Amino acid sequence: MKIVILGAPGAGKGTQAANLSVKLKIPHISTGDIFRSNIKAGTPLGKTVKQIIDNGGLVPDEITIEIVKGRLSQEDCRDGFILDGFPRTIPQAEGLELILDQMGAKLDYVLNIVVTDAAIIRRLSGRRICPDCNTGYHIDHDPPMEEGICDNCGARLIQREDDSEDTIISRLNTYHDQTEPLIGFYEERGLLANVTGQYRIEDTTNEVYKVMGIKE
Ligand code: AP5
Ligand code: MG
Repeated sequence: MKIVILGAPGAGKGTQAANLSVKLKIPHISTGDIFRSNIKAGTPLGKTVKQIIDNGGLVPDEITIEIVKGRLSQEDCRDGFILDGFPRTIPQAEGLELILDQMGAKLDYVLNIVVTDAAIIRRLSGRRICPDCNTGYHIDHDPPMEEGICDNCGARLIQREDDSEDTIISRLNTYHDQTEPLIGFYEERGLLANVTGQYRIEDTTNEVYKVMGIKE
């Protein structure tokens, strides 16, 4: 199964992608996670993208497309993958079509998680992530068993640097300008399925399963 998950910052892309990845046994590929691990490791890529991400802008298309191309060529993507946060612009979506053509592959679903801006601003301030294994939590909606500690690996949870209110608003503006046009792009290709991300995490998961015909 080859899946793209679209949605505004904080819509729940990572949460739903992580669940689907376990359920379908296919890799979860988040360009945001790839950039953040490069920033943490201090790589040249990390140095190039840090300022852009901290300001809520987008990493240039050429850099992002190359990274995804490399990742999709790895063995574990042969039977499917879940792309979370890519594509984010029309040139990236065209780049993905080219990569898939070269692989002789096609997307099965583009799931668009729909949430209002007001809910997103409230939601992102409560997000916590594990700096070591990337597991995501929310202090109210998806808390860890022990406050501030990752259930999965025991590391101390942190808040993402781009989850400050000013940066959240920049990210939302970037989303509306550059990423929202992808809804029409994938609608035209008959791949788009809208699911609501406004309510509980399990409600979205159930909608996703229904769209894809997955049994709980
Ligand atoms: P990225 O890491 O992709 O961030 P984003 O799109 O801003 O999305 P988030 O990760 O913030 O949110 P999410 O939708 O994954 O939600 P989550 O499940 O965590 O990108 C970061 C930056 O990298 C970008 O700004 C850009 O600079 C750069 N970048 C990345 N990809 C790029 C690309 N392709 N091109 C160019 N630049 C790129 O959920 C959020 C919180 O809410 C969590 O705490 C979660 O527990 C909670 N939650 C989830 N669902 C619900 C629910 N239904 N109800 C209540 N709470 C919920
Ligand atoms: Mg995410």
